[in-house]
Amino acid sequence: MARPKIALIGAGQIGGTLAHLAAMKELGDVVMFDIAEGTPQGKSLDIAESGPSEGFDASLKGTNDYADIAGADVCIVTAGVPRKPGMSRDDLLGINLKVMKSVGEGIAKHAPDAFVICITNPLDAMVWALREFSGLPHNKVCGMAGVLDSARFRHFLSLEFDVSMKDVTAFVLGGHGDTMVPLTRYSTVAGIPLPDLVKMGWTTQEKLDAIVQRTRDGGAEIVGLLKTGSAFYAPATSAIEMAEAYLKDQKRVLPCAAYVDGPFGLKGTYVGVPTVIGANGIEKVIDIKLDKDEQVMFNKSIDAVKGLVEACKGIDSSLA
Ligand code: APR
Repeated sequence: MARPKIALIGAGQIGGTLAHLAAMKELGDVVMFDIAEGTPQGKSLDIAESGPSEGFDASLKGTNDYADIAGADVCIVTAGVPRKPGMSRDDLLGINLKVMKSVGEGIAKHAPDAFVICITNPLDAMVWALREFSGLPHNKVCGMAGVLDSARFRHFLSLEFDVSMKDVTAFVLGGHGDTMVPLTRYSTVAGIPLPDLVKMGWTTQEKLDAIVQRTRDGGAEIVGLLKTGSAFYAPATSAIEMAEAYLKDQKRVLPCAAYVDGPFGLKGTYVGVPTVIGANGIEKVIDIKLDKDEQVMFNKSIDAVKGLVEACKGIDSSLA
């Protein structure tokens, strides 16, 4: 049986890391597409040359021609520009919306059966626009944000509790921006919810609040340190986790930016929610109950996403 084909649209920092991870994990053959001539070709050759030492079986190809993504099983989209210090993800809207148009058309023409994972920011609005431009089924187009935000939350919690990251579960919902909603009630250390850990004296509410805030600012913290771009190792790893769930029909329960029509009382909105990812793409949106405070935070996040979607419609009339 032929190996799955993974198309990476954008061969920048995240795209290169995606290619390396996909090859090392032998998820399939990788095609890297970019408008920059030489970048996808150079990176794919460089990674292929790591194959003999690493011992993976995967072919890698770099291209500037959309025709080469033909028949891809998975497309991971990172095309666009990342933010610089002082910028919010929302500042990228205008330029990255134009990029989503060309990417959506390229995928629709050459890889209409692919499971598409968008990473380009501002995430929730960009995944919505990409779906509109591509016309692919809603269950096959999603965005990577919740896995990364939850991973950041889990990392900070593991440092606080001095326990393995493997034993920390966490849920971050809502839009991938300043209004994201880290849900402490649904986050645990080996099944013990965080509010119980506060009661048990393992941490204090103040420390937990600070960790929640650090999670919300997790992307900006990296941008501030790097100065020339945004995070790429953890974002790529998170998207690979989602791609693997699809390719191996793992039915993973992962938070991601999915199309929500019904659950959470939402009507046709892309936003971060808990989902099940398997061979049918986003197979389910898990409609968890939110308490009053969580609902207020979630609503605020939804409003922020809706504002960006309206801004997209204002920029490109074909989306209105
Ligand atoms: N089609 C294809 N590729 C494009 C296009 C386009 N229309 N426009 C830009 N690109 C490519 C650039 O040439 C570059 O190689 O997208 C790549 C982006 O790479 P980086 O600048 O290194 O950005 P990266 O850190 O990978 O982040 C990409 O993901 O997390 C988000 O905010 C981040 O929106 C940004 C995206």
